Amino acid sequence: MATAEVRAAAARASAAQSAEVRSTERGCVQSGAEDELPLRVAVIIGSTREGREGAGVAAWFTALARKRHGLALDVVDLADFHFPERLLAQPPPGIAEFTERLGAAEAFIVITPEYNRSFPASLKQAIDYGYDEWHAKPVGFVSYGSNSVGMHAVEQLRWVFTELHTVTVRDSVSFDLLRAHDPDGTGRSATAMLGQLAWWGHALRDARAARPYCA
Ligand SMILES: Cc1cc2nc3c(=O)[nH]c(=O)nc-3n(C[C@H](O)[C@H](O)[C@H](O)COP(=O)(O)O)c2cc1C
Repeated sequence: MATAEVRAAAARASAAQSAEVRSTERGCVQSGAEDELPLRVAVIIGSTREGREGAGVAAWFTALARKRHGLALDVVDLADFHFPERLLAQPPPGIAEFTERLGAAEAFIVITPEYNRSFPASLKQAIDYGYDEWHAKPVGFVSYGSNSVGMHAVEQLRWVFTELHTVTVRDSVSFDLLRAHDPDGTGRSATAMLGQLAWWGHALRDARAARPYCA
């Protein structure tokens, strides 16, 4: 590794360590307390494309998230559902199962590719089938693309999820499929994102119990 790269890596490691120390000094907890019920997190796989990369990204991410204490994951693969081409007044039974799983979740992770500087239609179609089920819950993102890292998709999803009364967390996890995967970098991003998701998830669980969310 060149000297400049070594210095940059050391500076990044030192900054991350300082941030961790500051968090501990403030008494931050990374997950819920030991005696709290695990936070129910729906991990939504947004691509339904034949031959998709999304399944591999989801497998990597869920393996990592499962190592974290205090999360109960439900992997919601949109490819398992048959969303009608038209929004129907009476959605078919399979869609009720989808919205029930959204409703049971206390937090969401959306795994999205970037298609033409946005997120895929399969994801928007699914999002639009829920409404109350999204309300007053946090959302985190895992994104990927070819040349970009899916940030256009994520930024547009933040607008969509604001309309649905969610809290989108600041940090996200992102990959450029055309570059070698840096597991340390994505692992650090995942830790930050899951920490924020857990904090909001527990805070909003308590808030919804104290006072129903009326939008
Ligand atoms: C219709 C389409 C549009 C795409 N547009 C972009 C794009 O705007 N930016 C980008 O970085 N990658 C783009 N890609 C590349 C995808 O990010 C890449 O193919 C990725 O594997 C798609 O996710 P999936 O395999 O899980 O469906 C596009 C791919 C498709 C199929």
